[in-house]
Amino acid sequence: MGPAPPHPALRADLSPVGRGVPRGTIALSKIQPSMVESIVPETDARGPAVRLRGVTKTYDSGVMALGPLDLDVKRGEFVSLLGPSGCGKSTALRIIAGLAAPSTGTVELAHHDTERRGSHRIGFVFQEPTLMPWATVRDNVRLPLKLARAPVADAEMRIDAALDQVGLAEFAGAYPRELSGGMKMRVSLARALVTDPDILLMDEPFAALDEITRFRLNNDLLSLWRDLHKTVIFVTHSVFESVYLSERVIVMTARPGRIGAEFRIASAEPRGEEFRTSAEYAAFCREVSHALAPSYKGQAGA
Ligand SMILES: Nc1ncnc2c1ncn2[C@@H]1O[C@H](COP(=O)(O)OP(=O)(O)O)[C@@H](O)[C@H]1O
Ligand SMILES: [Mg+2]
Repeated sequence: MGPAPPHPALRADLSPVGRGVPRGTIALSKIQPSMVESIVPETDARGPAVRLRGVTKTYDSGVMALGPLDLDVKRGEFVSLLGPSGCGKSTALRIIAGLAAPSTGTVELAHHDTERRGSHRIGFVFQEPTLMPWATVRDNVRLPLKLARAPVADAEMRIDAALDQVGLAEFAGAYPRELSGGMKMRVSLARALVTDPDILLMDEPFAALDEITRFRLNNDLLSLWRDLHKTVIFVTHSVFESVYLSERVIVMTARPGRIGAEFRIASAEPRGEEFRTSAEYAAFCREVSHALAPSYKGQAGA
């Protein structure tokens, strides 16, 4: 076991404004200036949002967790990273977020779209909602704005908007213990959205939820993505979830995670229950499963 990872919610919320790093650069570029750079702003809405080149990660324990990984994600794209447990998916997301440094390679992120105070380039949603149990829903969502160096003038309006976006407007005064698992995850999503990030990184956010709740959150996430035009990098080990949600599915190999295969999911059906039960969806899932199978080779129980 390596050292305990940093507390995810707090670390994620410490991006640009909280760390006092000038806008337009990523929070931890201060620590590793050569590795996290900004790329030229693109006028094309589908210009690059994230570019990884030759990224590897070897932990102090000697475990090579990732790479080499080359990855391009366009602005507004919905991409899934699909792979078995332990293949380095979380490592990849943490490196993109600047929460961990790559051992080699470069990470480039597009310039941040807004100069608004309390607004971040990246929003991170973890598998655990990581809510503060003593604080109301509203106060949990407020956290990243509170961590901004100066007061955020429109904080209350932004909290209202984020709660509305995730369908929790009526639960602003509730405490986490009063919420279902799905609702807690909605709060976690609202906390990421309140900083109006360009890029949303989601690490198996719905893995612990029951199937019906997961389906609902899948649909709500898709409508948010359509409405808000965020770039989403979604990590999952579920073939079905990755195909349902994504424009592009990237299948990762077993550790050290590399790109094993890539699929563009250009469905004729709009995403919804019709698509979920369509022959087209089943065919995509079959293909992606087939590409994923070698990543499980040699694993006990596979
Ligand atoms: N902080 C750490 N220190 C040492 N090893 C780690 C650390 N985090 C992850 N690992 C190891 O790196 C590999 C990839 O982990 P991770 O990125 O969490 O995979 P995934 O998210 O795909 O399950 C695993 O073997 C894991 O045990
Ligand atoms: Mg993980």
